[in-house]
Amino acid sequence: MTGRPTSTPTVGIMGVGYMGIASALAFSHRGRRVFAYDVNPRVRASLRSGRSPYREEGLQELLQSEGRRGRFVVVDTVGELAESARCIFLCLPTPAGRGGRIHLAPLRAGARELGRALREVRGYRLVVVKSTVVPGTTESLVEPILRRASGKGPESLGVASNPEFLSEGRMVQDALYPERIVVGANDGRCFRMLAAVYRGFPAATRELSPSEAELVKYASNTFLALKVSFANEISRWTEALGGNVDDVVGALGADRRIGPSFLKAGPGFGGSCFEKDLRAFVGRAAQLGIRARAAEATLAINREQTDHVSDLISRTAGPLRGKSVAVLGVAFKAGTDDVRESRAFPIVEGLVHAGARVRVHDPAALANFRREWERRSGTTARSVKFSRSVVDCLRGADLAVLQAEWPEYLDWPARWSEAMRTPLVVDLRRALSPSAREGTGLRVVSLGVGRDGRRATLTPPKAATPRRP
Ligand code: UDX
Repeated sequence: MTGRPTSTPTVGIMGVGYMGIASALAFSHRGRRVFAYDVNPRVRASLRSGRSPYREEGLQELLQSEGRRGRFVVVDTVGELAESARCIFLCLPTPAGRGGRIHLAPLRAGARELGRALREVRGYRLVVVKSTVVPGTTESLVEPILRRASGKGPESLGVASNPEFLSEGRMVQDALYPERIVVGANDGRCFRMLAAVYRGFPAATRELSPSEAELVKYASNTFLALKVSFANEISRWTEALGGNVDDVVGALGADRRIGPSFLKAGPGFGGSCFEKDLRAFVGRAAQLGIRARAAEATLAINREQTDHVSDLISRTAGPLRGKSVAVLGVAFKAGTDDVRESRAFPIVEGLVHAGARVRVHDPAALANFRREWERRSGTTARSVKFSRSVVDCLRGADLAVLQAEWPEYLDWPARWSEAMRTPLVVDLRRALSPSAREGTGLRVVSLGVGRDGRRATLTPPKAATPRRP
């Protein structure tokens, strides 16, 4: 880090969503004194009583242990936050807005309110944008709002960018042990303060300009989503040629330059970030007069994967009208109750549209899925049943579709096959291993696995290999 260290600054967190709370508790865990403010009084009350407002692995335990240490304090006003904390992180939501752009109203309003509160404060403050914002936003939007509202120049108010790379289900671990810390600022004082705030975190810091730091976030998500889309594209090859996509990408990822992670073919990526960020990235590129072709192709492949999945289901099950289909796992990935952009929505929509009767199950995300499904589909909500147990979901089914790889589904007992009318599964994650389903009478058709699950051979099969029925 640049220059001499400063004394440990107090930390402020404005906006206690998933990212805000994980960051706040990670700073507290490293010995910082943390002040947190959220506009929602229920979130503040929940935090004060030591109950995590969100379901996330390890969060409740960390909230309690940090609460006992007394370094994590919830405040009721932005004024208190501005007064108590020297380095304040904006962790406000930037959801998808119109035309693929991000919706900046909460960030704008938060920056304005914080700026006004800072007007009354004496001494240097650093405001850090942690929310995901397209490159250029900190300097062209947030900083001017803060300066106007506070009346302060760079000598008493620093503005910086510090994107987060937290992944759902691993947020606490990712926040405590980041792989890299990316900070963007324009002067040494900001960098020094951020170095002091992050002292003790076991990761190297990259010092960049604010727009470079913001770009790293979008480049990271685009690259990760690109790897997923690439694996999905390769899965079409193995299906067509006769082979197993996991064997192919396993060998591909063994090259250190490529790496094995994020190459698991599946129903396409979901979640609150990838789709939203890539669309915003494409939009921002257009504003700048450049093309984000990798992001565009990644999104296009992801959309095609939805069609590919519905094609795979139809080819496996035949005409769907009147058939009963069980969808196992409706979260956007296993290990979370989050259903945002879950591929389960287009899958269930496609099935309903084709005239199937659909039952869905999920160990954690069923209520969220149901709420969102009913909001979206209104009167057609009756065409889907929400099952509390796997066996209820499978009873009488002509087909099951495994959408999310929950461990609960992976040891397939014989009674599950017996409950189905036809013991047949389309496994979109290749999660049901042959050994776990041995003797259960289950037939499995896996995405990315060509005929009979054969490994690809050097001699291609004779012309026009028929696809699976
Ligand atoms: C992602 C990024 O990983 C994180 O760094 C960023 O801060 C937010 O977005 P998250 O949305 O929690 O995190 O989920 P992630 O684990 O990245 O998975 C995203 C989607 O891609 C899921 O639908 C997942 O099922 C899918 N995926 C992921 C694959 O299909 N194959 C893979 O190999 C990896």
